[in-house]
Amino acid sequence: MSEQPLITLQNVGKTFGPVTVINDVTVSVYAGQVQVLLGENGAGKSTLIKMMAGVYQPDSGHIVIDGKTVILSTTRAAEEHGIATIHQELNLVPTMSIAENVMLGRLPTKYGLVDRRALRERARAALALIDLEIDVDTLVGELGIAQQQLIEIAKALSINARILILDEPTAALTVHETEKLFTVMADLRRSGVGMLFISHHLDEIAEIGDTVTVLRDGEFIAEVPASTPEDELVTLMVGRSIADKFPRITGEVGPATEVLRVESLSSHGKFSDITFTVMAGEVLGIAGLVGAGRTELIRAIAGVDHYSSGSVEVRGRALRGGDIAAAIAAGIGHVPEDRKELGLVLDASVNDNLGYATLASTARFGLVDFAGQRSRAAEMAKKLRIRMHSIDQPIGALSGGNQQKAVFGRWIIAASTVVLLDEPTRGVDVGAKVEIYELMNAVTAAGGAIVMVSSELPEILGMSDRILVMRDGRLAGELSSADATQDAVMTLAASDVDDTNERN
Ligand SMILES: Nc1ncnc2c1ncn2[C@@H]1O[C@H](COP(=O)(O)OP(=O)(O)OP(=O)(O)O)[C@@H](O)[C@H]1O
Ligand SMILES: [Mg+2]
Repeated sequence: MSEQPLITLQNVGKTFGPVTVINDVTVSVYAGQVQVLLGENGAGKSTLIKMMAGVYQPDSGHIVIDGKTVILSTTRAAEEHGIATIHQELNLVPTMSIAENVMLGRLPTKYGLVDRRALRERARAALALIDLEIDVDTLVGELGIAQQQLIEIAKALSINARILILDEPTAALTVHETEKLFTVMADLRRSGVGMLFISHHLDEIAEIGDTVTVLRDGEFIAEVPASTPEDELVTLMVGRSIADKFPRITGEVGPATEVLRVESLSSHGKFSDITFTVMAGEVLGIAGLVGAGRTELIRAIAGVDHYSSGSVEVRGRALRGGDIAAAIAAGIGHVPEDRKELGLVLDASVNDNLGYATLASTARFGLVDFAGQRSRAAEMAKKLRIRMHSIDQPIGALSGGNQQKAVFGRWIIAASTVVLLDEPTRGVDVGAKVEIYELMNAVTAAGGAIVMVSSELPEILGMSDRILVMRDGRLAGELSSADATQDAVMTLAASDVDDTNERN
């Protein structure tokens, strides 16, 4: 590590209207160092890095690069100083190809026209940095979230930055993909790149980080080595310790009642012949690798997509495919993988977003119950500790993790019978995760059921009563919570397909 930092945010502050979001924080990044930023949802991590990236300008304090005070008035200015940023919210254009997205703003030209060949070659070279093999002509809109995240990473790496900012790059990645990213980061560290890394996966900190700066409520709390034990980090971060990370409570919920029956459900090219039932009071986990068809299955049950054959029944009532309204009316709640695409109306208020699934069902004599909705929303926001200035704030102004909590809260308010969760705690801090798990317990205690897709094995193992494993669009097996181990799940998820049936 060299003496002089590559970049320092010196005593910076940032306010939005009346709200102080960052107060007098100093943080530096050195060459060959991975500086971690740690803090709860809404602590100010993304706001802080946006000042390094030229998205926001500090209201107080200043920015020093190579010992000189600078003003980063645009993202372009930051890039010119060698700063590349992978933002928490993906910034890809869905209607453009992978190649065009990777090279956006840097399109190679020849005789005044875009040089398609060079474009593809450079994009391929960028993807190769993280061993990603996808046709670069594919439209980004056709990719899943994990792949889009990898494209963002490849794009930032291809800029050859000397300061690389990574805001929750691993939130949507599996263990395997995360390892690939960490290998690249280790190489960059050796070549002297300074990095600033944000993640809610505490185990990643010791693996890839050097030092950790902890923020709480926009204030600097401490700087500690990345080898600091996880429970100490948690205490610094949330101001208290967390005893039970997976507080699953199973209990009697009366006579066994089937609430969801999925029979021989198939969707061309996505999944095939899926049969299972879920009982009241149960948490059913669905594990599998990215691309196993889990999200597609959940979307079909939720009425987002049509299916080709088979049936879905909620409490004995058949549901047609592709009819979201009917699914909601039947008692299905759906927390989707991509909160931006399906979950939230970003310009609408927190109150409206929380109430969206409930207003119709709570209307009396044709009148919408706005007052009741407002108090239910306020109560839920409090329970989930959604950090906001006011419940009338546009939800787009909330931090990423707080938006995720809101999508979850909506379906709990709606008192859905079957809540389908797709990566429910992605981007959620350790403390808020426990609150989400406790609300899952509340759903099952009230006689509801939960189907949870998650790529986080500890979460699947810690919260499920039963686990289904999907592989290549099919059910590869079922494990009881007693038999389930990380190895047992991974063996089912990854072993070679043992039958030669084509997907229908
Ligand atoms: N444009 C904005 N207008 C108003 N408030 C904002 C704006 N951007 C951020 N905030 C507020 O600033 C606070 C910090 O948000 P920030 O996104 O920096 O948190 P974070 O630490 O990155 O959280 P997460 O872990 O959830 O991503 C939040 O309370 C958020 O509501
Ligand atoms: Mg953030």
